[in-house]
Amino acid sequence: MKNKNVLILGIESSCDDTAAAILKGDKLLASVVASQEIHQNWGGIVPELASRAHQQNIVPVVEEAIRRAKIHKRDLQAIAYTRGPGLLGSLLVGGSFAKGMSQALSIPLIEVNHMQAHVLAHFIDDGQDKPNFPFLCLTVSGGHTQIVKVISPLEMEVIGETQDDAAGEAFDKAARMLGIAYPGGATIDKLSKLGDATRFKFTEPKAPGLNMSFSGLKSSFQYLLRDELKKDPDFIGNNKNDLCASLQATIVKILINKLLEACEIHQIKDIALAGGVSANSGLRDAFIQLRKRGFKSFIPPFEYCTDNAAMIAITGYFKFQAGLFSEVSASANARYPI
Ligand code: KG4
Ligand code: ZN
Repeated sequence: MKNKNVLILGIESSCDDTAAAILKGDKLLASVVASQEIHQNWGGIVPELASRAHQQNIVPVVEEAIRRAKIHKRDLQAIAYTRGPGLLGSLLVGGSFAKGMSQALSIPLIEVNHMQAHVLAHFIDDGQDKPNFPFLCLTVSGGHTQIVKVISPLEMEVIGETQDDAAGEAFDKAARMLGIAYPGGATIDKLSKLGDATRFKFTEPKAPGLNMSFSGLKSSFQYLLRDELKKDPDFIGNNKNDLCASLQATIVKILINKLLEACEIHQIKDIALAGGVSANSGLRDAFIQLRKRGFKSFIPPFEYCTDNAAMIAITGYFKFQAGLFSEVSASANARYPI
């Protein structure tokens, strides 16, 4: 079944983005993402609203990807979709659509693990150098924070992960305490550029081995706000930039220190960043700085950091080459491990 120019449609619907993308081999022809703004009113993702919005978006998003790729749907040779992990109701929408379309077109179906896809986004051809195997990938998103040892495209091992909140969750929860709309990670990043990162000190929670923890940091942030607001009711307004910069610096420090420990233990110098939080400028800068210390660091293009379907299609591409197809009977898996 090997075909280096295979035309694959990728479909992603695990959380609050409905996305479709088309790859020809490892080259991107089109990528469309419809983000659901409805959750901003609720300070977090409401699963029922997410699956309803996926149902509304899925057909126009796939049609738009096909139109932008300038192909006909009959040209497609396989459909890759996110089987998990994610919100069950959301996964069901993309999965059912992918299954129906693969049957209608009589083409193979490929199930994809969303976390594996974040890592493999690095291999979409953009003319840049690619990480050498084995490499370590720091995957940081709103739902996950993992250090993954990547042995080959389809062989990965989680060697460390958060024991409580994900790094993105830490950003989003702190943002909420500051009155910033959900998801607040990108806003904290923006305000951090105007603030003093050394102004406030927060707890850096310890976790065994290569695992991480962020919930103590969240509490320490909350206690500081509580104590200072008693003295100055405008404390947040008067100190927002410094609060953001200090919080961001602490999150970046926790992540980078653990990654360096993992590099030392596994004797690996190729490191990559993945997931929504890899859009963070502090984390991207830290990765670039590591090049001066002999590391080869890889940062995905901005559009492949947050959830997208190009990463689902590239994972589909590797699975297609390996002949790994799936059955229509495979059910959505909210906790699908890598
Ligand atoms: O990978 P992703 O799009 O969705 C999940 O699978 O979770 O990641 C979303 C997360 C959110 O927590 C969001 O606040 C965070 O990524 N994020 C950022 C930035 N851009 C997105 N966090 C910090 N700085 C950013 N620039
Ligand atoms: Zn994600």
